Amino acid sequence: MSAGEDFVALVLAAGQGKRMRSRLPKVVHPLLGRPMLCYPVDAALAAGASQVVCVIGHGADEVSRVLAQRYGERVRTALQAEQRGTGDAARCGQALVPEFQGYLVILYGDSALITSHALRSLLDHARAESAAVALLTSTLSDATGYGRIIRDAHGAITRIQEQKDCSQAEAAIQEFNPGVYAIRASFFRDAITRLTPNNAQGELYLTDLVALAAESGKSAGASGGVAGLPWDVAELHGVNDREELAEREKDLALRIAREHMERGVTLRDPARVRIEPGVTIEPDAVIGVDVELRGTTHIATGATIDVGCVLIDTDVGEGAQLLPYCVSTQSVIGGGSRVGPFSHLRPGSELDRDVHIGNFVETKATKVGQGSKANHLAYLGNGVIGRGVNVGAGTIFCNYDGYNKFTTTLEDGSFIGSDSQLIAPVTIGKNAYVGTGSTISQDVPEDALAIGRARQVNKPGLGAKLRARLKAMKEAAKKK
Ligand code: UD1
Ligand code: CA
Repeated sequence: MSAGEDFVALVLAAGQGKRMRSRLPKVVHPLLGRPMLCYPVDAALAAGASQVVCVIGHGADEVSRVLAQRYGERVRTALQAEQRGTGDAARCGQALVPEFQGYLVILYGDSALITSHALRSLLDHARAESAAVALLTSTLSDATGYGRIIRDAHGAITRIQEQKDCSQAEAAIQEFNPGVYAIRASFFRDAITRLTPNNAQGELYLTDLVALAAESGKSAGASGGVAGLPWDVAELHGVNDREELAEREKDLALRIAREHMERGVTLRDPARVRIEPGVTIEPDAVIGVDVELRGTTHIATGATIDVGCVLIDTDVGEGAQLLPYCVSTQSVIGGGSRVGPFSHLRPGSELDRDVHIGNFVETKATKVGQGSKANHLAYLGNGVIGRGVNVGAGTIFCNYDGYNKFTTTLEDGSFIGSDSQLIAPVTIGKNAYVGTGSTISQDVPEDALAIGRARQVNKPGLGAKLRARLKAMKEAAKKK
């Protein structure tokens, strides 16, 4: 990109968003796991903005914290102390780049669906038309709430009329202002000082720059003027209330789902998955219905994620199979492994290749070696499990004494009988056995068999005697 193609993005996000009825500023409400404001900012960065300035006001501390955490120095903030309208907000933002000569791309912090393609197309259009102001336009059969685009008899855009200032005839106009502009900085600097709050809301309207640009276009001849670029409304809806928040999340989820399908991922029902934008999926993975993939989750090729799984920051290896309703957080599932149904992998679970974790098994901070199995009802916390280990049903790693966590080590080839408790710290040696129902508090040497339970005693005939005694007691009680 040459210097002349440089652009600066101003994202206006100082408003409260009253209709959200929230303690949180509107623009930090999450959409698919990230604050709403990140979507327009990411689009601007992806479109190649040399600088991005967010104008903040309501909940400024919270909003700037969110921005700093995610973008560091890449995004700057300008404070609009008092919300005097979008024109005033844009002026606050522009004040941070007073020398900048190219186009200012101005958009609103709730433009969650805007794409970098839309922004680049708008800039191309602005340059091609040498416009002072270029804006996206769109139509709705009912554009209530939006500013309407007013055109003259030749079809040229002359101004924008805000909803609250519309006459009945203007309110019937279907073409509306989505709120995405490219404005030449030199024009902006001059025109912004000429805005007045003579309108129904007593605010400085950014949209009044359109009328000023249309005027300047007339006198300046070739250069200046307003250029409208019609755009698909599907990318232009904002968020004003909770219902629209839910709608935008659905829109985004469907968009992301389609992108994965285009790259060769099978989705059983694209309308019934939530895949966050930071998730990566390789071709020929299969994703079932009602699956949520969050954070930095990665799914390798050939893996299957069946109904209802929720994976957070989880790495799923090639050909691994997650059966229905597994939950996994910050964990690794090796290639060819089979997990579920109903397994819970908590942070730090690392399954090597071909591991089997079955129903109602919970793991936490535990490594499981290649080919090892824990198929039923177990708690494996702070464990180091070698290869080819079999953990029987109902095994518990007793890892916590109320103050500290301790490690349970199961060496290669060891076999833990069902319903055993292993009191950490403890090591079960290579190829050793633990008898069913044992409570193990001491290390078991290699190849040994440990039995840690009371010896069984059989007392002949005692069952019948016991029964007779109990019956007599019951009858005596009835007579009383
Ligand atoms: C605005 C447009 C309208 C357009 C609509 C598209 C104006 C005057 N009107 O109306 O033509 O159809 O968006 O959604 O621009 N903000 C500030 N500081 C302020 C006021 C607003 O930063 O003093 C920010 C808000 O946080 C918000 C954005 O600007 O992100 C838009 O403000 P909002 O009040 O929602 O404008 P609309 O009435 O929706
Ligand atoms: Ca709005």
